[in-house]
Amino acid sequence: MSAPNGATSGAGSGWWPPLREELRGVQPYGAPQIDVPVQLNVNENPYPPSQMVVQDVADAVAVAAATLNRYPDREFSELRARLADYLGPEAGRSIAPEQVWAANGSNEVMLQILQAFGGPGRTALSFAPTYSMYPEYARDAMTPWVAGRRHEDFSFDLDEARRLVAEHRPSVILLPSPNNPTGTALAHEVISELCAIAPGVVVIDEAYAEFRRAGTPSALELLPEQRNLIVTRTMSKAFALAGARLGYLAAAPELCDALRVVRLPYHLSTVTQAVAIAALRHTEELLGNVEELRSERDRTVAWLTEQGFQVAPSDANFVLFGVFENREALWQQLLDRGVLIRITGPEGWLRVSIGTAAEMKAFKNALGEVTR
Ligand SMILES: Cc1ncc(COP(=O)(O)O)c(C=O)c1O
Repeated sequence: MSAPNGATSGAGSGWWPPLREELRGVQPYGAPQIDVPVQLNVNENPYPPSQMVVQDVADAVAVAAATLNRYPDREFSELRARLADYLGPEAGRSIAPEQVWAANGSNEVMLQILQAFGGPGRTALSFAPTYSMYPEYARDAMTPWVAGRRHEDFSFDLDEARRLVAEHRPSVILLPSPNNPTGTALAHEVISELCAIAPGVVVIDEAYAEFRRAGTPSALELLPEQRNLIVTRTMSKAFALAGARLGYLAAAPELCDALRVVRLPYHLSTVTQAVAIAALRHTEELLGNVEELRSERDRTVAWLTEQGFQVAPSDANFVLFGVFENREALWQQLLDRGVLIRITGPEGWLRVSIGTAAEMKAFKNALGEVTR
């Protein structure tokens, strides 16, 4: 490989390519993408869109395609309005389009949050075990990262949070609710107290919120009283639209406005906007399997418990279970039987996403075989 401008490449001298020091030797993120019959490793909705939704999305893309010589609407105004309409009922009051922001997956939303509110000399705080991408977002936004601990049963440790907030004065606190990989949701009291003591923003990542059990609240209900609260969502999970890459958030308009400073110009393509708007016209149908997935989740928790495993109660579309002496070996044995799950969480635990009834049957059969 040759270096730009004819400079010597340095190949063999150990410095090429000229990566930032802290990125050298780092493996790119990636859950294994393996083509097996039963894929239960990245918390997708297992049900593909119906032919009617496919046709409506295709028609919307065809209309968008005729305008592709032009840049997209940089403020994605219609999409923001439709997302605000979607969130209103969950928030228990109407949400204005100015309170909504979106990007290519909630991954990108989170990166923009850290670019705007984190950065060198500031700190981002979270609590482990949690979503493995957070430290990577922080690293990429050059934001020092601090991870406290949850209780042994994965519930939130507010005393630990108070201590770490006082010690580190984080400009960003990042917390999923329900948490990935444990499935644990946060109580309103916890979120309200964090908002009160945080010197910066509190991000509640509700990627899995639509799967929460009855009685579990959404942080959206705390808007707009908590002015430093950001609630992120995604169309990748319950909404069955992972391939479209659309994540979004609700927050005070001032916070949304601040993100406009760091976003790349025209970051949401015309096609992405058209697909998301078309999908939102079919909200009821796309979310139509959520109830079934919730029941399947509860049945999976009950079954795993009956089998004698430790199981984390879940408000999401996945279940963390264990504890295995050699989880890598077990994971491989399941894979050998065509069932792909995820090695994540504390040592000894595994996570299974909730699939169709047939997929969960295959998972149970395979797990039964390899643990008998
Ligand atoms: C807690 C959590 N937040 C955010 C994401 C990112 O989702 P996306 O970028 O597809 O919106 C995921 C994906 O698995 C997740 O588990």
